[in-house]
Amino acid sequence: MSDTATLEINGEKYELPLVTGTENEVAIDIKALRGASGLITLDPGYKNSGSCESGVTFLDGEKGILRYRGYSIEELAEKADFLEVTYLLIFGELPTAEELQKFHADIMDNSMVDEDVHKILDAFPKNAHPMGVLSSLTSGLIAFHPSSVNIDSSEDMYQAIVRILGKFPVLVAWVMRKKMGLPLNYGSKKLGYVENIMKMMFEQPNEDYEMNEIVKNALDKLLILHADHEQNCSTSTVRIVGSSHAGLFVSLSAGISALWGPLHGGANQAVLEMLEAIKEDGGDTKKYMAKAKDKSDPFRLMGFGHRVYKNFDPRARIIKKAADEVLGDLGVVDPILDIAKGLEQEALSDPYFVDRKLYPNVDFYSGIIYRAMGIPVEMFTVMFALGRLPGWIAQWREMRLRKEPIGRPRQLYIGETERSFKQISER
Ligand code: SDX
Repeated sequence: MSDTATLEINGEKYELPLVTGTENEVAIDIKALRGASGLITLDPGYKNSGSCESGVTFLDGEKGILRYRGYSIEELAEKADFLEVTYLLIFGELPTAEELQKFHADIMDNSMVDEDVHKILDAFPKNAHPMGVLSSLTSGLIAFHPSSVNIDSSEDMYQAIVRILGKFPVLVAWVMRKKMGLPLNYGSKKLGYVENIMKMMFEQPNEDYEMNEIVKNALDKLLILHADHEQNCSTSTVRIVGSSHAGLFVSLSAGISALWGPLHGGANQAVLEMLEAIKEDGGDTKKYMAKAKDKSDPFRLMGFGHRVYKNFDPRARIIKKAADEVLGDLGVVDPILDIAKGLEQEALSDPYFVDRKLYPNVDFYSGIIYRAMGIPVEMFTVMFALGRLPGWIAQWREMRLRKEPIGRPRQLYIGETERSFKQISER
């Protein structure tokens, strides 16, 4: 293959370099395009545009491949735990036992949250959506840790990373406990990372907390499956906010807000609400399939479709299997699991979905497991954020270490051409 692409415009030829990644993907490098030709490219939603070079996560949407730092999601979900995957995504290698022990200790040394954060949390009404509260508290942490704003050294970076990895789970637990009317609490340094999260989320003040291994293992796997996904909407948000050299916490807060959208991470809550509506409607999946295909109807089959996966989403395959296992192990019978499976079967044989390559994505089955764990539906996207935290951190860190320029896209102006001001009496 040639190492350049030739663009011919009005008889003028422009040679643009081709760059090839380690998985043999090829991109046209257009960094010099506007300077050479005066032209820009236009690509709403960036469906055809790469924003960066990254070594964190590779996915192949046609083949349903997802790898974190070269390790397949199937292997990691089966053999690793969430803290190991967190370390791998951020620092690029699986940790040794000593590295993991120090990482965990450094994180737990940062797992207290200033009691004054309660005052911010208390200011929210009980019915506030947890994602809005979490985004605000994450940004609010900056006031208590100003040193995490200007990250000018690798030590600053490491301290900001272990600080947010220690405090974010506390914020997640507090947001859930506030919604459930439970007293805010702390975990225990003696526990593993995910065990500690569970204790903070689920312990009841009037009984000794007993760890449920089934739930712990399922939560660990779900967090791994959500940990990173290359340049998705929320990760791109974290990167572009961080590219202005805004601090890590405020960049993460922006990512939480982007993830909240129902077209993105908010879909896991929307899927449960959709499945509940179908159940209330007598389980009439055909009616909802018709609505999803009706262009005049804004309804979409939530949890279906993906910008990149035009085959199965490998995470959805693992989560679907886990849903059967977890509900079976917990002895939970949830009719919406059968409704979900029925919907999937219908869609997989319906030309509308098959022609558009719409398959279940990561959000389609995850909520069924969260609900079986006793997590409120409004907390589902918060759980997505908890899982995605390491990926956001890893991508933000890579962007800063590579000294990426501030993100500032161009546009094609389609507004009014120049015109003179009119006094109000003339309008
Ligand atoms: C996540 O990017 C990531 O990696 C995200 C994520 C991650 O880990 O970070 O994987 C997590 O966000 C998963 C996606 C969760 N969202 C949903 O489940 C919401 C429902 N899905 C859709 O809204 C949609 O599929 C998107 C947003 C996910 C993708 O949208 P695209 O790539 O912009 O595709 P599109 O909207 O252009 O759709 C192409 C066609 C259209 O029909 P035509 O105009 O060609 O006739 O497919 C149709 C769409 O109307 N379509 C759907 C549909 N999804 C797409 N029709 C019905 N139901 C759907 N769910």
